[in-house]
Amino acid sequence: MTTRTHRSRVTVLGLGQMGTAVARVLSEAGHDVTVWNRTSSKSEAFRGSATVADSAASACQASDVVLSVLSSYAVTDEILRAPDATDALRGRTLIQMSTGTPDDVRATASWAARSGVQYLDAKIIAYPNSIGTELSTILYSGAPATFERWQDTLAPLAGENEFVGQGVTDAATFDLAWLGFWYGASASFLQSLALCRAEQLPVEKLLSRLRWMVDFIEYSARDAAARVERDDFSGADCALEVHRHALEDVTRASKNRGLDDRLPAAVIELFDRAISLG
Ligand SMILES: NC(=O)c1ccc[n+]([C@@H]2O[C@H](COP(=O)([O-])OP(=O)(O)OC[C@H]3O[C@@H](n4cnc5c(N)ncnc54)[C@H](OP(=O)(O)O)[C@@H]3O)[C@@H](O)[C@H]2O)c1
Repeated sequence: MTTRTHRSRVTVLGLGQMGTAVARVLSEAGHDVTVWNRTSSKSEAFRGSATVADSAASACQASDVVLSVLSSYAVTDEILRAPDATDALRGRTLIQMSTGTPDDVRATASWAARSGVQYLDAKIIAYPNSIGTELSTILYSGAPATFERWQDTLAPLAGENEFVGQGVTDAATFDLAWLGFWYGASASFLQSLALCRAEQLPVEKLLSRLRWMVDFIEYSARDAAARVERDDFSGADCALEVHRHALEDVTRASKNRGLDDRLPAAVIELFDRAISLG
């Protein structure tokens, strides 16, 4: 992991699961950390290792860079668009680490520009207990100079700190692309697990094939992406109707064992649309 090269004043807004981990790692890395949280009991845990601010505005005033790890962009807006907080932020850098949509990012970036606040968007791909370890990744997007200014300060937070693009929405777009993929794949895996258990197939047998399953998804995803780019939806390997039939078997097998079949049934609807579109 990259080592910090200088001590900075850093504010962390929001001490939920993730904000607590972020503030702890930055404080352990030797930065002068100021924290603020709506519920003061969570801030009290930081007395001795960080400065505990009594308002969001005074927390912003205390540092050159302010990290928002509040639950959402809406909550961050509510807090930072209060006139005293906006005044305190002017001339400083705001790094928004909450999960949000590209539209949320655009709105915040344009508010920041109007308010004289430098803005960087950051998305955390890790659980709180991985913050500060090799298992965590944080994606950044926005002005390269702003990232360069703060990258050493923020380096202790993650094993991989990657600047993904000058487009301010790039990190959020990638984050949601990843989350959509991950939730869908994880839910599908649980469906498979339930089916194997219901049919008394030892779970280890499924797990022993997991690498192969993931590799096959990579193969077919790369093929699909290339086809979409070329606008080429031909293909002689397997008709849509054959895919649909296989999915119907997944759905029927689930139903027969009393399992929830909504996930494969939803994918069948997509195949039906594709078939009806020819
Ligand atoms: N946890 C993860 O694994 C994970 C991973 C990647 C990204 N993230 C993202 O990180 C962000 C924080 O997640 P988290 O897990 O730390 O959530 P959390 O534990 O629920 O904490 C939410 C934080 O937001 C504050 N908050 C919520 N509503 C508020 C309001 N109306 N006014 C003021 N403060 C308010 C809470 O303050 P109180 O303490 O006063 O309630 C708390 O500090 C989210 O955007 C999440 O998507 C989380």
